[in-house]
Amino acid sequence: MKILMVSAEVVPFAKTGGLADAVSALAGNLSEQGHDVKIVMPRYYKIDRKKLTPLPGAMGVPVGGGQEWTEVYSAPLPGFPKATVYFIDHEQCFGRDGVYGPTPSSDFPDNTYRFSLLAHGAFQVCNKLGWFPDIVHAHDWSAGLATVLLKHVCRWQEKFRHTASVYTIHNMGYQGVFGKDKFPDLGLDWGLYYGAGFERNGALNFLQAGISCADMVTTVSPTYAHEIQTPEGGFGLDGLLRVRSDVVRGIVNGVDKSVWNPATDSLIPARFGAGDMAGKAACKAALQKEFGLPVRPDVPLVGMVGRLVSQKGIAEVFAPSYGSVYSICSTMDVQFAVIGTGERWCEDEIRELQSKLPNFRAKIGYSERVSHLVEAGADFFLMPSQYEPCGLNQMYSELYGTLPIVRRTGGLADTVENYNEQTGEGTGFMFDSLTPGAIYDTVGWAVWAYYNRKEHIRAMQERAMAMDFSWKASCDGYVEVYKEALSRGCS
Ligand code: ADP
Ligand code: GLC
Repeated sequence: MKILMVSAEVVPFAKTGGLADAVSALAGNLSEQGHDVKIVMPRYYKIDRKKLTPLPGAMGVPVGGGQEWTEVYSAPLPGFPKATVYFIDHEQCFGRDGVYGPTPSSDFPDNTYRFSLLAHGAFQVCNKLGWFPDIVHAHDWSAGLATVLLKHVCRWQEKFRHTASVYTIHNMGYQGVFGKDKFPDLGLDWGLYYGAGFERNGALNFLQAGISCADMVTTVSPTYAHEIQTPEGGFGLDGLLRVRSDVVRGIVNGVDKSVWNPATDSLIPARFGAGDMAGKAACKAALQKEFGLPVRPDVPLVGMVGRLVSQKGIAEVFAPSYGSVYSICSTMDVQFAVIGTGERWCEDEIRELQSKLPNFRAKIGYSERVSHLVEAGADFFLMPSQYEPCGLNQMYSELYGTLPIVRRTGGLADTVENYNEQTGEGTGFMFDSLTPGAIYDTVGWAVWAYYNRKEHIRAMQERAMAMDFSWKASCDGYVEVYKEALSRGCS
């Protein structure tokens, strides 16, 4: 199949979260399976033009009421030479730092225009190449307009008549909501403001339009596919998703094992595998040193990596006089190592906790190397998400023999198996209600098992490290969805 992916983020070129990992790995693995895969994304300021190949000639993109002139560059997807990434280069729209805004928690004021340029530009890249896909696969709110354009504009043209669209929701919490006055940026007739499903509560909603116009809608785990159809998980769009439930599917993400494999990982100080855990002990010592924790092999070490935003349950862990980490660290013989960036209050509170607790150490920042070290060196990995569409870190942890402690939600429920104290089965520790007390109790349960059920911990590590999490199964799922999209959208 010819597949065009449209995404604002693709690893290694631009990343704010798991979306970038997922798009790149999915595209790459599909190309390895023999599909013809191209990705369109913006060329942000940080992506060096010198490392890309320019396509000859400028490309006009109809956007807003007029036309923008862009350049197009290409590069093979690193690690997957059969897939090609096309970059839309427009200095004014994309020649800045940041994907969605100057900081992780702020937006650029012209995002409607920027992501309109991305979606319109994706179809113009096809025209420029004379290559017309079977599937347009758009990801998240920032590419939502692509499904609208296919349905209401492009499919009227002979060359896109047989193209179908798939829309993958990586996170319902980010919908791309803007004032109605921004609608002209999209370069569509006003009739489509209502007709394509943009209007919601008097505002413009990219995610809602993307869901409304796609031939098939997917999300990144079966449990999350169910949750988004409920008022608790739907962020206001559960009604629409229930109406469209016949086209909604949940496919769990895989793990890119060329990057996340303890036996080959070059970012960690020692390599290891289920049969030889000496390297893991060396990683634990290196992690303790890196974070300035006492180097002790016998103390349970709990790691955390991720965006410090409410989705991740940070209030229940870190909030002053409410969060559980203070009581965990002051009553149990444990160590904590955290790396993340996000909400300001949380970063400040983490610094404060560090000054009070000798066994709690954190780095505010983003580092691939340190995140690999935490996954490899910790004994447990805490991920108490309020909601989690898929989640990648818990899978990375399992593959590194670091047992996840998670809330039973979304992809966490689908990829972690709870500890069974009787049999020693399981790959992690789970709880249901998101409260500081439940987090305290579950970390306590894991710590108890660490000290008192060593053989269970060992067996769980082996089980976790043997988990498949390959992209092969996910790709098969997407190919099925593509076939269904073609039969629904183009019949
Ligand atoms: P989300 O996409 O909601 O942030 P995921 O678990 O799917 O959650 O993916 C997060 C990705 O971002 C993982 O690859 C994780 O390692 C990475 N990541 C997040 N924060 C950091 C950080 N501070 N340093 C290094 N990597 C990080
Ligand atoms: C989102 C979700 C995360 C998921 C990722 C990749 O950012 O928050 O759970 O793993 O997308 O699909």
